[in-house]
Amino acid sequence: MVIGKPFLTTEQILDRVKELADWISNDYVDKNILAVGILKGAFMFFSDLVRAINVPLTVDFIIASSYVKTDTTGEVKIYHDLREEVSDRDVLLVEDIVDSGITLNLIRERILARSPRSLKICVFLDKKERRVVDVPLDYVGFEIPNVFVVGYGLDYDNKFRNLPYIAIFKKSV
Ligand code: IMP
Ligand code: MG
Repeated sequence: MVIGKPFLTTEQILDRVKELADWISNDYVDKNILAVGILKGAFMFFSDLVRAINVPLTVDFIIASSYVKTDTTGEVKIYHDLREEVSDRDVLLVEDIVDSGITLNLIRERILARSPRSLKICVFLDKKERRVVDVPLDYVGFEIPNVFVVGYGLDYDNKFRNLPYIAIFKKSV
């Protein structure tokens, strides 16, 4: 297993997070955001993002995991659901990375079924060329090519989430 040098440095990440947070703060002036982090992957991005947002905000979390059996079908399991009431709230879903889009699409539909006043999606990384299901993304940190990345919350086999930067992961030596 090889972890390459930073693909996105801590400084690049935090600069971009600040830009996203300013953009979000602007869009939600006079509103109260229900920020929903999708765990585990989004925990680091989520905590940096909400710290930089300067409008009233409530946090909640969903724990989800996707089991991708082939390239085109995925099965998503929800281990922990929202505790906050969603109806009539301005929900901001926060995810680490969108690949096929299956995970985010399913979670989006679950939340929409509970009649939020609005629902927007913020993702840190977008692997656009891998998309199978179309999901509307409102705020995107970085578009990346089809490479497997770890760090800043993202894992390989539940490891490397604690790296303070994003690195490309290669399975071979
Ligand atoms: P999707 O349902 O195919 O969009 O998969 C999204 C999920 O797959 C993310 O929430 C991540 O947990 C995982 N994932 C996809 N690409 C990567 C990657 O490059 N590194 C780490 N996890 C990834
Ligand atoms: Mg994830």
